[in-house]
Amino acid sequence: MKILAIETSCDETAIAIIEVKNEKNSYHFKILGNDISSQATLHAQYGGVYPMMAKREHGRNILHILEKVLKKAKMYHANKIPSFNKNIDKILSRENELRELWPKIMPFIKKPKIDAIAVTSGPGLEPALWVGISFAKALSAIWDVPVVPVNHMEGHIFSIFPKNKKAFVINKDKKLFPMLSLLVSGGHTELVLIKDWHKYKKIGSTRDDAVGEAFDKVARMLELPYPGGPQISFLAQSAREDKFPISNHQLAIKLPRPMIYSKDYDFSFSGIKTAVLYKIRDIGKLTDIKKKQIAKEFENSVVEVLTHKTFKALKEYKIKTLIVGGGVSANKHLQKIMTSEIKKNKIDTKILFPSKKLTGDNALMIAIAGYFLFQNKKYPRNTQKIKAEGNLSF
Ligand code: KG4
Ligand code: ZN
Repeated sequence: MKILAIETSCDETAIAIIEVKNEKNSYHFKILGNDISSQATLHAQYGGVYPMMAKREHGRNILHILEKVLKKAKMYHANKIPSFNKNIDKILSRENELRELWPKIMPFIKKPKIDAIAVTSGPGLEPALWVGISFAKALSAIWDVPVVPVNHMEGHIFSIFPKNKKAFVINKDKKLFPMLSLLVSGGHTELVLIKDWHKYKKIGSTRDDAVGEAFDKVARMLELPYPGGPQISFLAQSAREDKFPISNHQLAIKLPRPMIYSKDYDFSFSGIKTAVLYKIRDIGKLTDIKKKQIAKEFENSVVEVLTHKTFKALKEYKIKTLIVGGGVSANKHLQKIMTSEIKKNKIDTKILFPSKKLTGDNALMIAIAGYFLFQNKKYPRNTQKIKAEGNLSF
């Protein structure tokens, strides 16, 4: 079975095609094509993602990426693309027009041998999500294949499976359950209990800022470019490696660990962010050394809170597998502390992180999640009913 997947929830336009063989004890996946066009450098100029700008860029890029991925998968059979395709961004912004125009455009790309189209339907920026959804609906109408809407966060859970560029296997082994997923991205921070595939229960989430958002906001306070996570992480690491660390009384930076001992599994990161703001006001001129110290203490604080809450849940629910996913799962300090805590506490839990390329948004993870939904017939029969849901939750 072959699935084509589309992801446009934030600032990456991504398409992937996978082939799946369902065997007795495992699912065998082949990655036939997988491509991403990132808008990060564009948004960096403005210090964050603007939904309408993201929408416009998705519209500009999506057809080109489809062509590239179809070519990679050796599924591209086309004549010369007519020039009016250049207006695709305008076309995609008005679905009614899209429906009329696509039958004229699409004969130029013949139907590839795919069984379904998976598309991210939320959560995310609604104008951006609509580009992928409208595109999926148009392809579905012309190629006569079903559309499977996918929860972006479920996609992040599946992102831990592909370990190389070509193929991977998912075992049907029930011993992996119960699983717990810590999902940490620019828009979300949540702990999700997974009793079986598609049996999700959110046991905790942030009450204010998402952890990636806090990284981005603190980075801005430290005059670092967007996205701030990798920048803070780099500074924090260099502070840890400093041969001549400044002594604590020279610059005693201590930030709070909000809600670390609260009885629930919720988080709060806006307090740390505010504490950083006051610290910066207090310490006067922001030198490189001070920036590094703040970055280090901020990262320590966030990682400590995330680790403490996650480990509490590992014990309470006797978790066999811990999946960490989302943009912030790329954070090396988080990976190191979580992995070493598992060893130190002799906890019988397998911990899994995505490969570096799949920590951020991508269509491969949507393809995998979409495959399981399709196989379990969990998708609406009426494609036109599919809509963008900015706040979609488990
Ligand atoms: O999952 P993602 O790519 O997009 C969303 O769905 O939000 O996550 C993006 C977030 C950004 O806030 C970015 O600063 C953060 O992930 N991020 C990191 C790191 N790399 C990306 N945060 C901390 N450390 C990193 N190494
Ligand atoms: Zn994401």
